[in-house]
Amino acid sequence: MTVQAYDLTGRTAFVTGAAGGIGRASAVLLAQAGATVHCADRDAQGLHETATLIKDAGGTARTHHLDVTDREQLRQAVASCARLDVMAAIAGIMHSSPVLETRDEDLDRVLDVNFKGVLYACQEAARAMLAGSVRGSIVTMASGAIDTGRPGLLCYGVAKAAVVQLTKTLASEVGRHGIRVNAVAPGWTRTPMTNHHEAEEQARTEALMARMSPLGRVGEPEDVAHAVLYLASDASAFTTGQILRPNGGVAMPW
Ligand SMILES: NC(=O)c1ccc[n+]([C@@H]2O[C@H](COP(=O)([O-])OP(=O)(O)OC[C@H]3O[C@@H](n4cnc5c(N)ncnc54)[C@H](O)[C@@H]3O)[C@@H](O)[C@H]2O)c1
Repeated sequence: MTVQAYDLTGRTAFVTGAAGGIGRASAVLLAQAGATVHCADRDAQGLHETATLIKDAGGTARTHHLDVTDREQLRQAVASCARLDVMAAIAGIMHSSPVLETRDEDLDRVLDVNFKGVLYACQEAARAMLAGSVRGSIVTMASGAIDTGRPGLLCYGVAKAAVVQLTKTLASEVGRHGIRVNAVAPGWTRTPMTNHHEAEEQARTEALMARMSPLGRVGEPEDVAHAVLYLASDASAFTTGQILRPNGGVAMPW
């Protein structure tokens, strides 16, 4: 086994949520590893910036301005890829409300983006891989929220737990075709999602999160992107149905 196992030259990857944060870092890293990267997001400006970063570094990127809750938009975007080797379903939103104050519309919105958006991406990717006889890799984005019951994170945690169940079930169903499906469950990572916009509160939150980690720090988008690259590449050829936790050791489940 050499570092060549991480080489994605000649492969095509599709990344949702690619306009910022973990999705952008993953798209850039997959491109650095040699993949042609299809970047999808509802944020057109952020998409353009990610594609520019990839192209300026000598990589190949295409953009798809879409909403992951629209199955037809996702279907058309995936169909436009001549071949699909990697799907990284990363787009997601945060929502926080105590259980007793959670409204139906909050739960619906979070499930729509964080679960159904991932489900649609997984379905379209698996169909494309099966049709092309590609032994591909699907990477979903869960969260450290699956390992805790942190106050306020009911909708978010439920959606991410559903993503894990989807990941395991799909892995069992498509494994015999050589398609692998794994989830990444990051701990607190410094991205626009976790940005409080108020410097003092941001510093307080980061210090609190860092203290919870044996490594004494929070995550950077690149920490998570490396987990995505591992699962996307042949380096993880014998790994499927698993949850990889780049979380600084905050949670250590069996
Ligand atoms: N940052 C963290 O601490 C952390 C921890 C665990 C898991 N995650 C997960 O990682 C993923 C990326 O999060 P991030 O921190 O980079 O957040 P982010 O807000 O920086 O990025 C999320 C991206 O998803 C896009 N997006 C949101 N809804 C969309 C939709 N309906 N259609 C298309 N695109 C949409 C946004 O435009 C944005 O570019 C999310 O699934 C998040 O839940 C983040």
